Amino acid sequence: MHKHQIVTVATFLCFAIMTGNGWAGDKASVEMGKKLFSDPTLGGAGNAKTCATCHPDGKGLEQAGMNENLGEMISSCIVGALGGEALEAKSEKRESLLLYIKSLEKK
Ligand code: HEC
Repeated sequence: MHKHQIVTVATFLCFAIMTGNGWAGDKASVEMGKKLFSDPTLGGAGNAKTCATCHPDGKGLEQAGMNENLGEMISSCIVGALGGEALEAKSEKRESLLLYIKSLEKK
């Protein structure tokens, strides 16, 4: 392998790590929240239920973004409705769900 080829491969690998599951993927986002909303593994619950089972496309949650206890409501639905474990308050998953639910009220 030539030197410049090694540099090219190394650069590519750094880029792949950053844009893959690395730093860039670690940020909370509306898209991640939307995915989690229909993810049956959320909270580690072993059933097929998701948030979307009871709130299809976030229906009924259009006003929830204004709720001061939104974080707790999310946790109580994960624990009570999904039978899962509550997410940590500042975790990126819970932040993403918050962002997603807040995005619903603008529609
Ligand atoms: C088994 C059905 C069910 C599931 C599954 C469920 N919820 Fe709920 N959720 C409810 C009910 C019932 C209420 C209370 C009635 C209401 O306010 O709409 C509620 C209320 C809420 C509220 C408060 C609404 C408001 O206006 O303040 C939020 C936020 C919420 N759920 C988010 C979620 C999230 C996020 C998930 C997935 C982790 C989820 N729910 C899963 C049934 C469910």
